[in-house]
Amino acid sequence: MALAILVPGGGGMLGTELARVSPPDNLLVAPASHELDITDRVMTAAGLGRFVAAARRRGLPAVVINAAAYTNADAAESDKDRAFLVNALGPGYLAAACREHGVPLVHVSTDYVFDGEACEPYEPSDPANPLNVYGHTKLAGEQAVLGSGARAWVVRTAWVYSSHSANFVRTMARLEQERAMVSVVNDQVGSPTSTGDLASGLLSLAARVTEGAGPAERLLHYVNTGRASWYEFARAVFACLGADPRRVRPCTSAEFGRPAPRPAYSVLGVRAWTESGLPAPRPWPAVLQEVTASLRAGTPVPDRAV
Ligand SMILES: NC(=O)c1ccc[n+]([C@@H]2O[C@H](COP(=O)([O-])OP(=O)(O)OC[C@H]3O[C@@H](n4cnc5c(N)ncnc54)[C@H](OP(=O)(O)O)[C@@H]3O)[C@@H](O)[C@H]2O)c1
Repeated sequence: MALAILVPGGGGMLGTELARVSPPDNLLVAPASHELDITDRVMTAAGLGRFVAAARRRGLPAVVINAAAYTNADAAESDKDRAFLVNALGPGYLAAACREHGVPLVHVSTDYVFDGEACEPYEPSDPANPLNVYGHTKLAGEQAVLGSGARAWVVRTAWVYSSHSANFVRTMARLEQERAMVSVVNDQVGSPTSTGDLASGLLSLAARVTEGAGPAERLLHYVNTGRASWYEFARAVFACLGADPRRVRPCTSAEFGRPAPRPAYSVLGVRAWTESGLPAPRPWPAVLQEVTASLRAGTPVPDRAV
């Protein structure tokens, strides 16, 4: 069944991808941050009201997928108020507006809510304990959404990349051209995840919730399966690009010295997702090959649907 989908944060990596993979019979509205600023409660309520009216005129069930966020973890360390506004208060305003209009909400969160002390994949039921400001603000956003009274689901994801937008894979592709050797941290292990697969997964969840058949679990994880350190991931990117992976050398997070501490281990488990009957995520190495093939081919990303 066709859907009407509002995607705040439509100009970002995930927002762009949702517009790209959404079937053409959907009405997908993906406003940029200046068109729908989720930190502006009035603008958010009005924007949602207009969207709901448009969905009704077309006879389509409405759903919101929130792709808006303050995602620069290092900048957030010295910009706490803004990060909290965008990642915690904004999702709360959006959820309140969704409750008002009876529209279900799918909100996206992060592996950085965990402290990395685990040695097996984190499930949604595991306790969160963020190490950095970004993780704290995202956890507060999850709580605001799930405590709002809206019909809401939170999907945590991790290490997201695509053939467009600023992300690790594109950075590695650039550095492969520019440098003989590249140093990449080998003491953080996580779940590399393609934005395309994430977007498709979120659309499957959105379809389910608009049918009134949303999972009983309101907190879910979606990542491509398997695990890698950033170093291992970078080597795989080089190999997929036809470059020699030995040009990637391992280093430690301490050597790299970034402002925001990162969890040493943030692999996410997808059991709750698959047990809800949602499509099983694919293993990351196969997906990376597809994405790097499109990067190599220079396949353009089509314009946004709406
Ligand atoms: N990228 C990752 O590796 C990763 C990992 C785990 C979880 N996630 C989560 O995945 C989701 C999508 O992230 P992404 O990778 O697509 O990030 P992104 O490319 O940085 O996109 C975020 C978008 O949110 C917009 N935005 C910022 N403040 C806003 C506001 N007040 N109102 C409306 N929009 C606003 C930004 O617009 P401007 O550029 O105009 O500010 C940007 O277009 C986020 O919830 C993020 O926390 C991402």
